[in-house]
Amino acid sequence: MSGVILMRSMLLLAVGESARQNVSIFDPASPQAESIRNLGILVLAITGGIFLVVEGILFYTMFRFRRGAPPGPLVPNPDPKVPPPVTVEPAGTSPEPPQVYGSKPIEIAWTAAPTLVVLILLLVITRTLWEIAPDRPEPHEGDNALFVTVIGRQWWWEYRYDHYNGRPLGFTTANELHIPVGRDGKDYPVYLTLQSADVCHSFWVPRLAGKTDLIPGRTNHMTFHTATAGLYVGQCAEYCGTQHAKMLLRVNAQPSEEFESWLRHEEQPATDVETVREDKHVFLKQSCVNCHLVRGTEKDTPARRREYAPDLTHLMSRKTLASGIIVNDVKTLRDWVRDPQNIKAGCLMPAFGLSDRELDSVVRYLLTLR
Ligand code: CUA
Repeated sequence: MSGVILMRSMLLLAVGESARQNVSIFDPASPQAESIRNLGILVLAITGGIFLVVEGILFYTMFRFRRGAPPGPLVPNPDPKVPPPVTVEPAGTSPEPPQVYGSKPIEIAWTAAPTLVVLILLLVITRTLWEIAPDRPEPHEGDNALFVTVIGRQWWWEYRYDHYNGRPLGFTTANELHIPVGRDGKDYPVYLTLQSADVCHSFWVPRLAGKTDLIPGRTNHMTFHTATAGLYVGQCAEYCGTQHAKMLLRVNAQPSEEFESWLRHEEQPATDVETVREDKHVFLKQSCVNCHLVRGTEKDTPARRREYAPDLTHLMSRKTLASGIIVNDVKTLRDWVRDPQNIKAGCLMPAFGLSDRELDSVVRYLLTLR
């Protein structure tokens, strides 16, 4: 099931990328994902071995003891507690195999073997959980650690950048997470705090970490770090409603200088472009601003910083729209604003029935939010 969904996601993501995205858990890019891969292989080997032994015995028995000659009429055993009388027949002619009633060694063996297997699985799983979820430190200067609060919403991801290298950040973005990569043997750990605003979601970027649920009223945590820059894609892994399959994830792992310049840019309020003043005015008159925030505009007040919808301050710095399902360019942006339901049926953004002129203005303004 999740395989099918992933295939679909890969196809959808391929829309914007030249190459197909790698989402294999067998190709980890972080020590945490590597631990999970190793555990997966071990569990697969143990359970695969058990499968082969059981099926082997089954097939051996089916062929070795299959009924040869046509059987006589079956006589039901009147009292199962009393073994049927042993009739001595010439070897190989009896239709019934020898019946065994109770065997201590066999019973001990089939109790002990599964117990041992379960115990081994329990130990390795506990070790892996230990490895991938180390203690979560408090942010402090020089830790090179990024702290982000991820909020799952129907059907997009809100990222609140809390701290980086001990420095408080306090801006919000959506759907495309940026993280620094380690260098010179130094880790740049990423600590995610996972929460939900509505229903259960699950944050899953297969090459970076395992799945962790975002549950209403509960806070979960996730930690990973990678030394390989690149784009990592993922998918919400917990059914969360109509557009669950279109709740995609993108993680941009960047060299630390590049990441830091992205941070500095995102922290800035929206640039005020002279040539789109009129368009900005048109945009701020629409209902868009009741849910979306553009930092630095006159509609940006503390009361409005409630984030019902993605922060648009640097909308055009994102490669995709609608949580990763369409490329962010002039045409798709216009289609998306005109009728979101046509692209993502059931999403909370309605079509506002803008006139073509208003639509042109809104899009012209949004395009300046770099
Ligand atoms: Cu969010 Cu499935």
